[in-house]
Amino acid sequence: MADKTAKLTLDDGRTVNLPVVVGTENEHAIDIRSLRADTGYVTLDTGFMNTGATKSAITYIDGEAGILRYRGIPIEELAEKSTFVETAYLLIHGQLPTATQLTDFSKQLTYHSMVHEDMHHFYAGFPSSSHPMAVLAAMVSSMSAYYPDCLDRNAPMELHITRILSKVRTIAAFAYKKSIGQPIMYPRNALTYCANFLHMMYAVPAEPYEPDPLVVKALNQLLILHADHEQNCSTSTVRLVGSSGANVYAAVAAGILALWGPLHGGANQEVVEMLEDISTSGGDVKKFVSDIKDKKGNRRLMGFGHRVYKNYDPRAKVLKKMADQLFDHLGVSDPLLDVARELEEAALKDEYFVGRKLYPNVDFYSGIIYKAIGIPTPMFTVMFALGRLPGWIAHWKEMVEDPSTKIGRPRQIYSGENQRPYVDINDRT
Ligand code: CMC
Repeated sequence: MADKTAKLTLDDGRTVNLPVVVGTENEHAIDIRSLRADTGYVTLDTGFMNTGATKSAITYIDGEAGILRYRGIPIEELAEKSTFVETAYLLIHGQLPTATQLTDFSKQLTYHSMVHEDMHHFYAGFPSSSHPMAVLAAMVSSMSAYYPDCLDRNAPMELHITRILSKVRTIAAFAYKKSIGQPIMYPRNALTYCANFLHMMYAVPAEPYEPDPLVVKALNQLLILHADHEQNCSTSTVRLVGSSGANVYAAVAAGILALWGPLHGGANQEVVEMLEDISTSGGDVKKFVSDIKDKKGNRRLMGFGHRVYKNYDPRAKVLKKMADQLFDHLGVSDPLLDVARELEEAALKDEYFVGRKLYPNVDFYSGIIYKAIGIPTPMFTVMFALGRLPGWIAHWKEMVEDPSTKIGRPRQIYSGENQRPYVDINDRT
């Protein structure tokens, strides 16, 4: 029996007591699982605006206060002090690794960084115009064909987790090399996770690539900041697909496809395209903001607003600082950074955005940083996917290991025709 209950009175006078579940950060939820059996009612919550789909011990967000923590540790501390590999371990295993655990984990990631040579043929089959997200999702899904023991739900999951975490990085870099017609560059074991990715992206057989330590740091930070965000669209997709018993490659491939949409991970690409539009059409930020407010062309200010954050996204704060540091260090200037700053300032003073609590989100500055380190625009969402991988894996693992997991199967309120007869084709008007 729960300590607290909520009482719901229906219009026919019936009353039900529903248990109240309280989280470790004192979040309260009404457990409505018995509602349908007790009353015949279901709940309706389009877009899952206020539905807790699961209990989870991975990530805590307080959107009103702008707080994000992985396994209890503030995102700002992880971005400053951790690496992507260490943060991935934390998310997946629940604790920061000891020095030995971190060395072993890193070694495993290095050991599994190659992709099966036969998979290289797939790249040749895609048209050169393919979006790399389409290629990435197809390749990740194909991994289940190369490691078929993943189909055994009782087989150990550790090896698959390491494989997917390591190989997605290689697959992503190879997809880029193929898209520009360059030979693929194999991973180098001596490099760290992020440095190795940069090597596979930018080295050519005739010339090695020596990663700049600040660029490696920026990449680590970007991936850490994207690593998890509790029950977002793609993570919910991973959990939903995984709840049917589908293997981890299938579940993650589905997550990649969900991430692709412009309202989710595709926003970082759209932000840069939007900034380019503003810049090439004369840089009139005020007019752009005013068009958005008038809902002209149904456009949104990309990189602004969030379902959960009703305050400045803490990830955007870290990235804004990193953008300044990196541009200084590389000695480059990008007019898009100036447009972004001007746009942010204009929006944060404007009643439309203030009233709706629309602040910059993680995607507002991430695209500009990716651009500065040479990542081409169509690869931005791939970078988001690479970052989000540990989160997807951690949620998939949490769900698989939870004995109370049930296949995800929402209800609906039917709003179609009532029963009617089939009409012969000659009698239809
Ligand atoms: N620009 C202009 N107006 C906006 C924006 C925006 N970026 N975002 C929300 N609004 C308005 C919206 O038009 C609506 O106004 P009204 O009340 O007049 O109809 C109001 O704010 C509420 O919007 P909503 O669509 O009900 O809010 P939501 O919580 O369903 O949407 C969102 C969240 C992220 C989809 C939305 O803010 C958006 O489309 N932002 C731009 C896309 C973007 O940057 N996405 C990346 C999100 S962060 C990365 C991730 O976690 O995936």
